Amino acid sequence: MSQDDLKRVAAEAALKYLPDGGIIGVGTGSTVNHFIDLLAKVKGRLDGAVSSSEASTARLKSHGIPVLDLNACGDLEIYVDGADESNHQLQLIKGGGGALTREKIIAGASRKFVCIADESKLVRVLGAFPLPVEVIPMARSFVARRLVKLGGTPVWRDGFVTDNGNLILDVKGLEIMEPAKLEDTINRIPGVVTVGLFAHRPADVLILGTPGGPKVVTA
Ligand code: A5P
Repeated sequence: MSQDDLKRVAAEAALKYLPDGGIIGVGTGSTVNHFIDLLAKVKGRLDGAVSSSEASTARLKSHGIPVLDLNACGDLEIYVDGADESNHQLQLIKGGGGALTREKIIAGASRKFVCIADESKLVRVLGAFPLPVEVIPMARSFVARRLVKLGGTPVWRDGFVTDNGNLILDVKGLEIMEPAKLEDTINRIPGVVTVGLFAHRPADVLILGTPGGPKVVTA
């Protein structure tokens, strides 16, 4: 089975977490794209979705699924999104697709965060995947120097602008032993909008796509 097949296995298994009616949060990325396509078949069960990116919004709308503004919705029952890495506590690195800020907002506004991924995303220690940090453009070099002091090697994702009009620094070379502490430290650097560490708000359920079927992990 290809990695993409495993992503689809995880996405399919997430359907059973859908509430009966109401509005759900929908993330961003290739795994979530499978979920959105599957959602199209059961869309009658939902009132709509809050989306974490322009790309997911376009895909949801192409299937006729209404996309709502989070400000009009209150807290959501469930958020379904992918991840670049998860540890066994379900703390995540996210933002490979650059949508980390809206993803973190929707995760925070949701009672249950169901993370879907192929099995390769589960790791013992976070950090082999470069940690994305969204920054205000004028702060790019300043934030990069601070990230170097923290032991990382930040690389500007050149040519990429987030849906919020900001830039991304991908920080290589971190071995993240204390994710919540590092999340706080990076969030405190002026000019940082969001760090793609989801430690204070980890996933509640991780569904891994494996060749033998979906595997559900809880912390
Ligand atoms: C988007 O910004 C990310 O947080 C994605 O959730 C993450 O990159 C996972 O993407 P894939 O599902 O494409 O692996």
